Amino acid sequence: METQTVSTMPPQNAWLAGDLEIVPLSKHIGAEVKGVDLTNISDDQFEAIHEAWLKHLVLVFRDQDLSDPALISFSARFGELDLAPLDANGRSNAPAHREITVISNVKGSDGKPIGALGAGEAVWHIDMSYNPVPPKGSALYALEVPPAGGETGFLSCYAAFEGLPAELKDRVVSLAIKHDATLNSAGIQRSHLDAVSDLRTSPGAWHPAVHIHPETNRPAIYLGRRKHAYIEGLQVEESERLLDAIWEAGTREEFGWHHSWRKGDLVLWDNRCAMHRRNPFDGSNRRVMHRTQIKGSKPQH
Ligand code: OGA
Ligand code: MN
Repeated sequence: METQTVSTMPPQNAWLAGDLEIVPLSKHIGAEVKGVDLTNISDDQFEAIHEAWLKHLVLVFRDQDLSDPALISFSARFGELDLAPLDANGRSNAPAHREITVISNVKGSDGKPIGALGAGEAVWHIDMSYNPVPPKGSALYALEVPPAGGETGFLSCYAAFEGLPAELKDRVVSLAIKHDATLNSAGIQRSHLDAVSDLRTSPGAWHPAVHIHPETNRPAIYLGRRKHAYIEGLQVEESERLLDAIWEAGTREEFGWHHSWRKGDLVLWDNRCAMHRRNPFDGSNRRVMHRTQIKGSKPQH
C-alpha cells in the first residue's frame, strides 16, 4: 500500500471540558486535549478527559513527560491494564514493567529488535481482536520519533458503519467475523501458530461484524484485520468477496485522519470504535514508543 497523505484541519469547533480545551482534529475522529499535565490530573480533569475520549474516539496530548510508571498510572484510571502481549517470537519486551509494550524498530546490543512492528507499514487493525476479549483502549507514548514517516492513521468505525451503502449495512449487521490470530499487524506470522491453510478452521476469535459500544451505545463496524478474516457460514470465496466490499466501503479516508508524531505525544484511542494503521518510515531512523492497554469486554451486538 502507498503511504497515505497526512490531513490536518484548522483548530475549529474547540470546546471546553472543565478547564481543558478540546480541539477536534478531523470530521469524525480525533481531538487534541490542551492544558493538561498527565502526571498530575484531578478527578474532575479525568472526567473531562473521559467524556472527550468517548466523544472523539482518539485523544492527543502533546508535550508530556511520562516515565513508564506515570504512563501506567494515567492509563490505569480507565480500568485494569492488560499485561504486554508476547511479540511475534513469543518474547516479552519490557520485563521491568509488565504492562508496557515497546513498539520500536531499534535493535538492542544482541541485534534483536527491542520492540514490535519494525519500520514497515502496519495495516488497518483493531488491537488484539484475535482474542475473545480485546482491550477497550490503548495509550501510545512517543519517546523517539523519526524525522519523517511513521504517522499513525485512525478511522471512526461509527462513521464507517453509518457510511455503508444501505444494502451492505443491512447485510453486515447479522454477520459474525473470525479475526485471524496467526499474523500480527505488521503481517508477521506468529511463531507459535501454523500458517493458515483453511480460513474456516484457522485460529482466531469470533465477533459480531457490528457491535454496540458499551459506553456510548452507538453501533460500530468491527473489522479487526482484513487478511485471513472469514465470515461465518459462507463459502470461502463468498466470504472473501463480501469482506472486500465491506473493507472498501468501510475504510474510506474521509472516515479518518493521520497523526504526525512529536516526541512527548501521548495518543489514547478507543479500540472499540477506532481502527488504526501506521505508515512505514526509513528504518535507519529510530522510533521508540511505549504502549499500555486497558482491559475491555466482549463485543456484543
Ligand atoms: C500499536 C500500533 C502503531 C504505531 O501500538 O498497537 O498499532 O504507530 N502502533 O506505532
Ligand atoms: Mn495496533
